[in-house]
Amino acid sequence: PLVEYLDYEVLADNGWELTDEDLFEKAAAANLDGEDYGQFRVEERDTLLEAAEEHGFTWPFSCRGGACANCAVAVVEGDLSLPVSHVLPSEMTDRGIRLSCVGEPITDDLKVVYNVKHLPALDELRL
Ligand code: FES
Repeated sequence: PLVEYLDYEVLADNGWELTDEDLFEKAAAANLDGEDYGQFRVEERDTLLEAAEEHGFTWPFSCRGGACANCAVAVVEGDLSLPVSHVLPSEMTDRGIRLSCVGEPITDDLKVVYNVKHLPALDELRL
């Protein structure tokens, strides 16, 4: 699978929203550096977090077991698997929030905004 990623902090810096339909088009046109925006491949049975690390990125995490939401990402296109037991309430999973530490791509193409742990609803969860 091929993952296109974008750092949530870039949204705040540019006044963009997660719900912007052209979010990734704007990111592609914005000359962002490779930490903030780009693409990488995920090998079979790798989680998104493992794949990011294999490509040299340091994405946020803590427990690596689905229990803390520090590694949360917002899936804008495609989908990531979610284990039966995890910390996210259904309001968050309904909005496409997934956990990169336990999530494996289940579609060939994915667009994800990583570093969404500071979304207000997730900040509450982590307290
Ligand atoms: Fe804790 Fe992923 S690192 S849920």
